[in-house]
Amino acid sequence: MKKDGKSMISKAMGHVSFVIRKCLFFILSMGPVPAHIAFIMDGNRRYAKRRGLQQDSTDPNSGHQVGFKSLISNLQYCYEMGVKYMTVYAFSIDNFRRDPHEVQALMELMKVKIDELLTEGGLLKKFDVRINFWGNLELLTDPVRVAAKKAMDMTVHNKGPVLSVCVAYTSTNEIMHAIEALVREKREKVQIRVCDLERNLFTAGCVEPDIIIRTSGETRLSNFLLWQSNFTHLQNPNPLWPEFSLRHFVWAVLKYQKVHGYLKKLNGETDKNK
Ligand code: FPP
Ligand code: MG
Repeated sequence: MKKDGKSMISKAMGHVSFVIRKCLFFILSMGPVPAHIAFIMDGNRRYAKRRGLQQDSTDPNSGHQVGFKSLISNLQYCYEMGVKYMTVYAFSIDNFRRDPHEVQALMELMKVKIDELLTEGGLLKKFDVRINFWGNLELLTDPVRVAAKKAMDMTVHNKGPVLSVCVAYTSTNEIMHAIEALVREKREKVQIRVCDLERNLFTAGCVEPDIIIRTSGETRLSNFLLWQSNFTHLQNPNPLWPEFSLRHFVWAVLKYQKVHGYLKKLNGETDKNK
């Protein structure tokens, strides 16, 4: 009986917050809606430490677990607001230099979460999401690479939002990868145009990010989408990634809307000068 009461309350709360989001996103959609938001999900370990979630060094994952929940919430906000592309920096090539226990634990978490995403009734199905994994996937553990490839194959025809997960990624590596592909493609033709290179980046076919948000107040881009961020509005809000909630999301979009006209003008001027 008690349990029924609790589940009714949580259902009602879920409904209320859905209605609030609908109203907020309706108001925001009066202004320009970003087509692509990219996140550098920083601050998971600090969150775990501050909240006392991390029991000891054998449990390096608790912050990343909550971080994954935040990823799902923000994907839902993007979906409900009509943002077509969401890209997240989940693991950089440099992150392989972290404590091997943490790297292994994070690989295991990713495998579990990718499988979870793919289950019947999972988020990818619910929102008809197409998922990409961008990076040097050879560097991943076998189970993660297999799961990532399966997820990409299973969702390739989905028509909903596009979630791109950068794993074993750096911009430098992406650009090197594109140059190698282009050299193989061009063979003896020496001239390489910028558009040829762009066609070979992982991000080909995806619009450039309108906003890059790096949580935890950090201001560095850390080798993330360097090629693609020429006209991107960079934001570095203070909350740690697991704390980045609806109000921070709404605020980020409002800040973008304030500078949108200016960025668009700059972009147009540069196009003319190309
Ligand atoms: C950065 O915080 C976060 C990461 C390096 C990992 C993020 C990964 C996930 C949330 C899981 C994603 C899984 C899938 C399947 C997409 P940090 O470790 O740098 O924290 P700190 O700055 O407080 O040290
Ligand atoms: Mg960090």
